[in-house]
Amino acid sequence: ESSTLAAEIRPFIRDLPDYPSSGITFRDITPLLADPTAFSRTIEGLAGLVPDDTDFIAGMEARGFMFGAALAHHLGIGFVPIRKAGKLPPPVKSYTYDLEYGQATVELRDGTVPEGSRVVLLDDVLATGGTAQAGAALLEHNGAQVTDLIFVMELDGLGGRKVLEGRAVSALLAV
Ligand code: PRP
Repeated sequence: ESSTLAAEIRPFIRDLPDYPSSGITFRDITPLLADPTAFSRTIEGLAGLVPDDTDFIAGMEARGFMFGAALAHHLGIGFVPIRKAGKLPPPVKSYTYDLEYGQATVELRDGTVPEGSRVVLLDDVLATGGTAQAGAALLEHNGAQVTDLIFVMELDGLGGRKVLEGRAVSALLAV
């Protein structure tokens, strides 16, 4: 049951107050990755959030790669990395979005996701929702159908759910 899973994996997420800056609490998932049982239970929990007819798991750089690749392998489907600008070889498709200060660009390798593919987007953390919204928009602008956005954890009070309103959003735990 999901609240049991949340309680099981919560001890493996380490909270670092005032990191990387004052007032921010960093959620460190390295203890979870290092524990084979907790990592495996996390992947199984995420698998339960993925519809049966999903063609690809797309993971957001960088921590979405760690869970996303393991999840795709577990499900026997393909994995698509969505990277920060300038990391993937050409040809790429890009999507630029606004941050509080400035802009950011995410990229997808052109030709990896066929038109109409059903994609589940995954990341470790939902905070303001900007990263996930950009990843979903990038996929959709390139013909994919983003059915669900899934996260290991969502941070309460940062407005992520609001930014992703109208989308199917789920997380294994809220912190
Ligand atoms: C963190 C996290 C998510 C994103 C969530 O990544 O892993 O990808 O921020 O924030 P948002 O909901 O406010 O957009 P970060 O930008 O630190 O990148 P990294 O994983 O490459 O270090």
